[in-house]
Amino acid sequence: MIFGITGDLARKMTFRSLYRLERRGLLTCPIVGVALDDWSADTLREHARAAIEATGEAVDDQVFARFAARLSMVSGDFADAATYGKVAEAIKGRSNPVFYLEIPPSLFGRVVDGLAGAGLTDNARVVVEKPFGHDLSSAKALNDQLSAHLQEWQIYRIDHFLGKEPAMDIRYIRFSNSIIEPLWNRDRIEAVQITMAENFGVEDRGHFYDPVGALRDVVQNHLLQLIGLIASEPSSGGPDGFRDKRVELFKSIRPADPEHYVRGQYAGYLEIDGVAPNSQTETFTALKLHIDNWRWSGVPFFIRAGKALPVRATEIRVIFKRPPELPFLPKIDEQNELIFRIDPNPGVDLVLQAKESGVDASRAVNLCLVFADEMAAAPEPYERLLGDAMHGDSSQFIREDGVEETWRIVEPLLESPPPVQIYQPGSWGPPGADALVAGYPAWRQPWLPAHQ
Ligand code: BG6
Repeated sequence: MIFGITGDLARKMTFRSLYRLERRGLLTCPIVGVALDDWSADTLREHARAAIEATGEAVDDQVFARFAARLSMVSGDFADAATYGKVAEAIKGRSNPVFYLEIPPSLFGRVVDGLAGAGLTDNARVVVEKPFGHDLSSAKALNDQLSAHLQEWQIYRIDHFLGKEPAMDIRYIRFSNSIIEPLWNRDRIEAVQITMAENFGVEDRGHFYDPVGALRDVVQNHLLQLIGLIASEPSSGGPDGFRDKRVELFKSIRPADPEHYVRGQYAGYLEIDGVAPNSQTETFTALKLHIDNWRWSGVPFFIRAGKALPVRATEIRVIFKRPPELPFLPKIDEQNELIFRIDPNPGVDLVLQAKESGVDASRAVNLCLVFADEMAAAPEPYERLLGDAMHGDSSQFIREDGVEETWRIVEPLLESPPPVQIYQPGSWGPPGADALVAGYPAWRQPWLPAHQ
């Protein structure tokens, strides 16, 4: 049951993901939309088809017909108890419903109260979308609202980065290759750099973005979750195994230090509809984190993320320590690196030094793996996550303690933000971002394989 099925997220992501699950034969249940809009099932079906086509997905008529037959609609106000009576009627005789709340978090409490009032929460799972609060105390308040009627096992908090196949691949690369894990510590690794660059601005999302900013929009959630994948300990499995390890890792990350925090705003941002005059919201952020555990002590984790940068790319660079300087070897400029390309063209690069032909010099060469060249096409993040929610696999979702720990880490930055520095669209943000990594290898252009 999808609350808010007439909204933007459903149009851009949900219909397409469900359609793709249908195509793979993985949908087995009816899908009921719930919204204030008084839509008939046919209107919903037409909207679904248009939405799927608008994403560029090729629509197969037979698959769509199967998918459309699952769709029906309940119209009603979320504040009205009668709506939940209609919801109960729509799923009568069904067990283990999944309620997907594609609605503003301010409505989560009301809807969960309504579902509980109609006796619908006992075996239900409830899927919710970020933002999970805007700081630690609001995140706790939101968790309290959800847990008034639900147990933690019933709550599926989506961070779509955890549904990205190349993010899941991090675990495989780390733990399924015996040559990697022995290197994964402070003895061998000098620094880790995470870049999430977007080559577009805030566009028509000014009203949403201005009270949020880059730190809350992508760092507290997506990029800290990537650190959780890169830096956590191996798990012994089980439904909570991976989540336990990620939370354990978050607990050992020191609260971020505003002294090592840079905020930028691209020139032109203030003209966007919905942005406050003289807004101090950051559209770029760079920061340094420390992990206080045996494996990572002393290895800085740098993050930079921003809008209106030169390229669209998300990658994690694990930078290894320099080799010793030996008399028979020429000096090297670049260290070994292992780069996880999350987007675009997911894959892994290993940067090695090799002899330059014909001269006594070494040069960095790149062993580049593009997953799409080697493996079948990957499911989309929402396709994967919605499928997992329907099957009751919560391992790629965020638990309450994970949400609260990640807010704890960024809280000092929210409390004492430095002023924003203006940067030009198409640049790599303000100069402070370069100063942040002083003493460590500089930020570099993301690896974008030539044949993409
Ligand atoms: C969203 C943010 O969560 O993630 C957006 O609100 C951002 O601002 C988006 O653009 C990036 O996701 P993806 O999957 O396109 O990299």
